[in-house]
Amino acid sequence: MLAISLDGRLAPAEGGAAQLGGSGDRRALEEALAWADGAMLGAETLRRHGTTCLIRAADLLEQRRHQGRDDQPTALVVSRSGLLPAALPFWRQPLSRWWLRPDPLPPLVDQSPSDHPFPACFDRLVAFRHWRALLDDLAGAGLERLVLLGGADLAGQLLAAGLVDELQLTLCPLLLGGAHSWCPVDTRLDPGRWRLLEQRQLGDGELLLRYSRSRAEQRRLPA
Ligand SMILES: NC(=O)c1ccc[n+]([C@@H]2O[C@H](COP(=O)([O-])OP(=O)(O)OC[C@H]3O[C@@H](n4cnc5c(N)ncnc54)[C@H](OP(=O)(O)O)[C@@H]3O)[C@@H](O)[C@H]2O)c1
Repeated sequence: MLAISLDGRLAPAEGGAAQLGGSGDRRALEEALAWADGAMLGAETLRRHGTTCLIRAADLLEQRRHQGRDDQPTALVVSRSGLLPAALPFWRQPLSRWWLRPDPLPPLVDQSPSDHPFPACFDRLVAFRHWRALLDDLAGAGLERLVLLGGADLAGQLLAAGLVDELQLTLCPLLLGGAHSWCPVDTRLDPGRWRLLEQRQLGDGELLLRYSRSRAEQRRLPA
């Protein structure tokens, strides 16, 4: 799920932490988090923002407590480098944090940077060989419902692997230009069509669009 500009960008041309959506988008984001067991995000998004999104709405927190679930879905940080400064406010957010790391690590990754807090500040390390196996392992650990919070690098890889079942895009009424398309331009994608599930006006000129991969499309994917 992403907030994007009319020209399909998720961050300003100069890069940096994007805050595109308004209060309606925030509510839609929190509703998705309230559904989720885990919220996956790329390390660059975390480095840019310093925090991950939390559910704040009292009714959604109450709903999760009523269901016997933790207040917040587990934060699933995808990173090869593990380079996340110890000063990030993320480490003080009230939620469970897991590090998702490829196994084996690519040879050029520096595994001993002095300023990274791994693994002590994470509650769990999940090493994965490929995306499908990772999702299976997460489901085995009780995290079946996942939301993907971005950014583009991560979204592009999971889309290319055919592992995104649903797209939730908030179209925000602005043009940003620049190179930060929400799906990287070099991503190889199956051109199959997606099925519109929902369109909702969120106020302030924002439009939520929810699509699922068509059934035919899902049948074509390898198991
Ligand atoms: N508008 C929105 O809704 C929205 C949402 C999210 C983000 N954003 C914006 O998106 C931008 C960041 O996105 P991004 O595309 O640059 O980066 P990203 O997808 O957030 O993170 C990329 C990082 O994820 C890790 N990673 C990616 N693939 C991996 C793999 N296969 N195995 C292990 N680790 C992997 C790497 O971390 P390491 O470098 O640590 O190895 C990589 O540098 C920011 O400007 C942010 O504001 C916008």
